[in-house]
Amino acid sequence: MKNIIAFAGSNSKQSINKQLASYAASLVDNAKTEVLDLNDYNLPQYSVDFEQENGFPENAKRFVEAIKNADGIIISLAEHNGAYTSVFKNLFDWMSRVEQKTFQNKPMLLMATSPGARGGASVLAIAKDRFPRHDADIVSEFSLPSFFENFSEGKISNDALNEQLLIQVKQFENAL
Ligand SMILES: Cc1cc2nc3c(=O)[nH]c(=O)nc-3n(C[C@H](O)[C@H](O)[C@H](O)COP(=O)(O)O)c2cc1C
Repeated sequence: MKNIIAFAGSNSKQSINKQLASYAASLVDNAKTEVLDLNDYNLPQYSVDFEQENGFPENAKRFVEAIKNADGIIISLAEHNGAYTSVFKNLFDWMSRVEQKTFQNKPMLLMATSPGARGGASVLAIAKDRFPRHDADIVSEFSLPSFFENFSEGKISNDALNEQLLIQVKQFENAL
């Protein structure tokens, strides 16, 4: 049995990206999934001075450890002003200090969703360019546009989009 972690790049309690990440994780066969919530990993705002004075915060080390212990990563990024949310960027900055090879070559299903028609395309492009520089092994990718029209009761309601996700999940599963 493989161990997967799934999380959203968001600290919203109603995060639509967390809903998508949880749904995608539920589609993976023969795997135990842990859905992480960034609210359980509060961190000070990254600063070189803080790091020099205090070292790495425990929560940054805990998240890196969670990645290390996982066989695969499912992540769905929320988009704020065309980029990562500040809470995710902060976590990423801290984690990259703890472990420059942040994603440790684990197979990754990289996703994004938003209420808009572009489905977080900008943040997805940023992550696709950057994550491999931190040893992400992005094996599949998915963007869900217009979340509130295409997702209800914990799953994707649009058949064509659901089919696309199933293909990406299968690819991810095969890489585990
Ligand atoms: C400050 C701010 C900036 C946003 N910028 C974008 C954006 O650039 N593109 C987009 O599609 N949605 C944008 N949104 C809407 C978010 O996609 C929406 O709030 C979504 O629910 C965020 O995902 P989450 O629920 O997983 O946190 C923005 C929302 C906020 C609060």
